[in-house]
Amino acid sequence: MAKDVIIACDFAGAEETLRFLDQFQEEKPFVKIGMELFYAEGPQIVRQIKARGHKIFLDLKLHDIPNTVKKAMKVLSSLDVDIVNLHAAGTKAMMKAALEGLTRPDGTRPLLIAVTQLTSTDQQALEEDLMIHAPIDQVVMHYAKNAQEAGLDGIVCSPLEAGKVHEICGEDFLTVTPGIRFADAAKDDQKRIMTPADARKNGSDYIVVGRPITAAEDPASAYRRCISEFLQETH
Ligand code: C5P
Repeated sequence: MAKDVIIACDFAGAEETLRFLDQFQEEKPFVKIGMELFYAEGPQIVRQIKARGHKIFLDLKLHDIPNTVKKAMKVLSSLDVDIVNLHAAGTKAMMKAALEGLTRPDGTRPLLIAVTQLTSTDQQALEEDLMIHAPIDQVVMHYAKNAQEAGLDGIVCSPLEAGKVHEICGEDFLTVTPGIRFADAAKDDQKRIMTPADARKNGSDYIVVGRPITAAEDPASAYRRCISEFLQETH
């Protein structure tokens, strides 16, 4: 199972992003591009970062009728990204259609992972706004199961949930986990956090790290620290 650190490139534009990536000399970190950067710069930013040799997790969280998602995924697949995602709330039919759209004529495709419930949604919002009355952790695990049954490769979740997801969906089902902080650092606006080493012990396959690297005085050394803490063998 590939384990890696993905840097969340939460920048507003191409110039800032490419300047940030210029700070990495030999290593080519796996990067996450989100809605802000993609909508500002379009597919060209994906091509530029790919051309520099980075792997890309395109975090656009698709959610629409199956046919629309299938066609949109076909476009994203042609950009040669490595991981894309969608909302599991779009149903199993939508997730299956997404996989069809992503699969290239030669049978290859980017990894496809699902967002279960956003961490900004709490039990109260689930019940009052969405009229879902099951406990939120049950909803998350149910959506994870749906994603697996639809043929997806994994889910985005908290590192605190990664062990449970592997218990229910198996070791090969990927857990991609944001909410990572070094033991000696600020939490920012994250509430449920873990260190890279603990995320590994809990079974995270990929950790998504933003500000601990992007806002560090020396991002390349913060990245290397993350890699060494996350990839070290546990004893
Ligand atoms: O700067 P920080 O390490 O908090 O960035 C985490 C990244 O992961 C951001 O891009 C954020 O949008 C994303 N994310 C998250 N929590 C989720 C889903 C995504 O922090 N539940």
